Amino acid sequence: MPFLCLDDFDTAARRHLPLPVYSYIAGAAETSHSLAANRSAFAAHEFVPRVMVDITRRDMGVQLLGRRYDAPFGIAPMGLAALSAYRGDIVLAQAAGHGNIPMVMSGSSLIRMEDVAAVNRDAWFQAYLPGDDAGIEALLQRVQQAHYQTLVITVDTAVAANRENNVRAGFTIPVRPGLRLAWQGLSHPRWLFGTFVRTLLRHGMPHFENSYATRGAPILSSHVERDLSERGHLHWRHFKMVRKLWPGQLVIKGVLDARDARMAVDAGADGIIVSNHGGRQLDGSVAPLRVLPQIVAACPEVPVMLDSGVRRGSDVLKALALGAKFVFVGRPFSFAAAVAGEGGVREAVDLLKREVSRNMALLGVTALDQLDPSFLVSHSPQGLSS
Ligand code: GLV
Repeated sequence: MPFLCLDDFDTAARRHLPLPVYSYIAGAAETSHSLAANRSAFAAHEFVPRVMVDITRRDMGVQLLGRRYDAPFGIAPMGLAALSAYRGDIVLAQAAGHGNIPMVMSGSSLIRMEDVAAVNRDAWFQAYLPGDDAGIEALLQRVQQAHYQTLVITVDTAVAANRENNVRAGFTIPVRPGLRLAWQGLSHPRWLFGTFVRTLLRHGMPHFENSYATRGAPILSSHVERDLSERGHLHWRHFKMVRKLWPGQLVIKGVLDARDARMAVDAGADGIIVSNHGGRQLDGSVAPLRVLPQIVAACPEVPVMLDSGVRRGSDVLKALALGAKFVFVGRPFSFAAAVAGEGGVREAVDLLKREVSRNMALLGVTALDQLDPSFLVSHSPQGLSS
């Protein structure tokens, strides 16, 4: 069956991946309230298309942070991408380069940032800041030496989230080998041999490579927790310090309150990604789409971007009509990489581009800057104001 929409990669990945690995990607925190809210926020906005517009020449290119991209979406940062897809981060970076869209490399990744930069000089790097000043400084130096030009700091992970679904599905970091995991591997041989064993044989045991300036712990180590935590005390002081040290574009990700967005811009952020981390951090946090207009109004001088819940070209256009300059899409690209490697991600990117282009035509717009809230009627299924 061909892949007709991004959700088809999810369906295929559910079969292809061991349940713990699939659940890690697909799942969210606690009750998955925010995961669902991210989708229903898009459903709460409906289009009011214009007709009889000559749409034969359409341009979905975007100028963003000093560079032109071929589409208004990019690949969101996703940790552990190399666990679900062989050389996952490399595959995502190559496909993004081919499609001329940005790929954001996660700091919780298992492939060295230098190796990803080598295949895509335009990839962005997303850091989880280390807890101490010296650690932050050393990490930023490394990111700069690897020639990244755009740095994303994710700020919605003050503590590790409550991912009950991971526990239920048997996914733990550190990975704890056992009978259950062995059975999951054996019953998914294409993943076991094509991704996991192939990785072990060619590259050795995966380590967290990019949390710090130096290599982190292997994913089997009981110390690995340290790589994902100890940042509860991080404060605007640290963000200002990053601004002083980082000469390139600086983006803050995980902001939902317009006051925080304003604070970030005043502290030197060049861009904002409004995000609830795909519903993976604070369950019950608002869908980014709902707070987007206030944040755009509070920060007119920087591009405001959005992630969380984007699955269709129509979602991309709704976010843009509400003021987003750009959006990021996560899980579907990870699933595409898992089931079909770089070719799969290219296909997913092309598919979403086609949806954006077709829907621009059906909406009666020829360039993305023509979009504004007048293309939408908004209602609130849950009786919330939007
Ligand atoms: C990592 O950022 C995750 O959400 O699992």
